Formats: sequence, structure tokens, C-alpha cells
Amino acid sequence: MTHKEYLELHHDRFIEELTEFLTFPSISTAPEHSKDVHACGEWLIKHLQGIGIKHAELHETPGHPIVYAEHCEAGPDKPTVLFYGHYDVQPVDPLELWTNPPFTPVFRDGKVFARGATDDKGQVFLHLKALETLLAIDGTLPVNVKILLEGEEEIGSINLPEYIENNKERLACDAVVVSDTPLYGPGLPSLCYGLRGLCYMEIHVQGPNRDLHSGSYGGSITNPANALCEIIAKLKDEHGRITIPGFYDDVIDLSVEERAGYAALPFDSEAFRNGLEVPALCGEVGYTTLEHISGRPTLDVNGLNSGFTGIGAKTVLPAKASAKVSMRLVANQDTDDIAKKFADYVQSIAPNTVKVEVVNLHGANPVLVERTGKGMNAASRALHKAYGVEPYFTREGGSIPVCIIFDQKLNAPTVLMGFGLQDENAHSPDEHFSLENVKLGMEASLYFYQEMSK
Ligand code: BES
Ligand code: MN
Ligand code: MN
Repeated sequence: MTHKEYLELHHDRFIEELTEFLTFPSISTAPEHSKDVHACGEWLIKHLQGIGIKHAELHETPGHPIVYAEHCEAGPDKPTVLFYGHYDVQPVDPLELWTNPPFTPVFRDGKVFARGATDDKGQVFLHLKALETLLAIDGTLPVNVKILLEGEEEIGSINLPEYIENNKERLACDAVVVSDTPLYGPGLPSLCYGLRGLCYMEIHVQGPNRDLHSGSYGGSITNPANALCEIIAKLKDEHGRITIPGFYDDVIDLSVEERAGYAALPFDSEAFRNGLEVPALCGEVGYTTLEHISGRPTLDVNGLNSGFTGIGAKTVLPAKASAKVSMRLVANQDTDDIAKKFADYVQSIAPNTVKVEVVNLHGANPVLVERTGKGMNAASRALHKAYGVEPYFTREGGSIPVCIIFDQKLNAPTVLMGFGLQDENAHSPDEHFSLENVKLGMEASLYFYQEMSK
């Protein structure tokens, strides 16, 4: 039997197993779900053992457990690939906007709907089935394989850097492969060579010691909600540039070749605009939309909290106001450096009639990798073989905090070979994953391990 025949023959069982995997509510940020995250990790260990992976162990951390497995039987003259992915998922709210419950997977229109379908359980699953197929047909894997699946990616990979630091030898590898990014479009594979970093801050503005009647007190004190809006309004200028002093100091500008690469990508900004139903797009002056969403840093309010937000009107001056503000960073900005610059600037522009506190919630550093090398070339051939076309080279706007750590601590390049689609509602209601890409992604990841051995 060929590998492809095995994939076809067992497809129905694979779908049942994927359904089971998607049923765990492994929401890493929610303390009430920590048992579910743990159970999902245990399920993965059993699954890895079931497909014939030699060693699979759940490693506890102060947070959620790390799934570690290895099957290194190809011999010392064959390369070692570390496959990384995450089995935790984002929260599901607002629940009422889901067509079906998020942890009861439903198959409709050639897609599977569930939280984690595309980000990242569905994509992790592709590799497990590729490895199963190789083991079943060949009795062995073409390269040495190590598997690292974490339960804290969506909360900033809190415990993973220390784990990697403490297990450098064990995790040593020639390349890391990650499937947690989108294809360029349906049928258009891509290799991602850049991810943005993140700096996630919270601003707290404290006004009077209690909420006040806006008639009796209005005009005599600084309203913390107004003060917060003024602060936020000063963080960017009319050209879409971030005004924090030194913010752009470490930004590597997009090179002429890179900008030419961006310009050569098929992109319909009118369709993009229309899909979002906004009257017009905007962004930093001098850059294109594709550059705005992946190659340039950003600053955005992610949440605002203050005053009366119920139905109707209540005449009140709120005692406090807060905002969650996140910045997407590009190479070589550093999240701790940016957090400090942000906090200093916010304090410097805050009116002295209120108390302002700035808190750093979490962050991740950006990553930019070489577009050539053994791993990239193998991935390129594998994607070509599965999809029938050459992959595009792209940068993505999202973050995978650990990628830069693989580079720094394991000295191994990361190959970002993803199979999601941009519009599969990752982090949103009705998240889904295309069954076409389940099939092609299994093939492509199988070819990747084969190509790595050449
Ligand atoms: N899979 C995404 C990262 C991603 C998103 C890559 C879009 C490429 C395009 C990942 O699971 C994610 O959501 N990361 C978080 C990280 C954060 C919580 C530290 C993100 O980007 O918001
Ligand atoms: Mn992800
Ligand atoms: Mn995510």
C-alpha cells in the first residue's frame, strides 16, 4: 500500500479522532478549564503512543503541561526534525454567535467547525497522521522526530522558554517545523518567513474615590474616561505613525526586494475591504495593506472599560477607566523595551489630575528567518508536491512566541508551513478548518519528513 492509499483508507477514522481531539475545551486562559487542558494533553500522549511513537511523556509545568515525544530511530546520519504545535485554544465568547456549540465539532460545507479547528489542533493533527502513515507503511520514520506540543501558546507560552532552556540537549534538532499559520489562499501554499511580536499592556486611570453625580460634580474633576481617551488619542498621529519616543528605533525596514515581493503577491484590497464591510481601509502612510498587516508594527486598543454601559442613560462620572492596548512588533523590536517606552510615554502625557498605572500583561518577540536552507527547501518541495504549485514566501501579522526561542536556544531555524486559511475565524465564533486542507496538509507534512531525509 502507498502512503496516499493509507491516508485514504483511514480517512474516516482520522476524522473521528480529530473530532475527539476538538471536543476538549482546552482554553488555557480560563482557570476553570485547567483540568480540560490537562486531559487534552493526556489524550495526546495516548494518541502518540497509539500511532507507534517510541517515547511520549507529559511534562508538568507550573502552568499547563507540555507534551513531549520522540522517535529517533533513523540514525545519526539522518537529520532531526522538531515538530512544534499547541493544543490550547482561545476562549469561546461570545458564545451566542456560534452556530453550533464550540466543543461539539460539526461537519458542514466541507469544513469542520469547532474552537481549535484551524488554530491549532486541526493543524497539529495533520502531522500526527502523517507520522502514523509513515510508521504504518515503512515501519520507521525517514528522519529523527521530536514532538513538542504546548498548552500555553495562547497565553504567551509562559513556561516553555524555561523548559527549552532546561532541555537543550534533548530538544537538539536541525530544523523546527510548525503548522500554525495560514496558506496564502485556497490552493495557494505559503512558507512564512516572518511573524510579528506582541507587547500587551493595560492602562488604569483612577479618578475620584467613587462614582459621582455628573451634575453635582461635573466640571470640577478630570473624568478618568475622558483622560484615558486623551491618552489613547496621543499614541498615534494622523499619518498612522506611533508616537511613543524610540518606538521605531529597532525596526528593520522592509528592503526593496521584500517590498517587491509583497507587490508581486496576488492581493485584491477592494475584496479585502468589502469582506470586512468597512467604508475604507487605512494604515500607516507610505505602506500597502499587505505591509500594514504583517511587515509593520501596530498599536491598537483591544478593550475599553469605564462608566455606565447598560441600556439607557445614567448621569455618572466614573471613578476609574481602563484600556487594554496591544502593539504588534516587527524584527528587531524587543517586547520588554517597548513595554518600558510605552509606560514611560503614557505617564508623561497623563494629566496630573488623575492617577495612572500601566501594567505589562504579556509579550512575545518577533521572528524573521532565512528563506533558504535545508528545512525551507524541503518544505517548499513538499508543498509543491501536495498542492501542485510553488509556495509563496510571506510574512504574517500574528505571533508565535516560542519561534524566536528555538532560534536563540536551539540554534535551529523554524519552518512555518501552515494549512489554515485567513478567514477560518481563528479566535472568533464559528472557527473552522477546511477538509480539503486536512487532506492536503497530511500529504504535505508526510512529504516534508520524507524530503528532510534527502
Ligand atoms: N496561530 C496564531 C499565530 C498566527 C496568527 C500566525 C495569524 C499567523 C497568522 C497563534 O495561535 C496566536 O494566536 N498567537 C497569539 C499569541 C499571543 C497570545 C502571545 C497572537 O498572535 O495573538
Ligand atoms: Mn496558533
Ligand atoms: Mn491563536
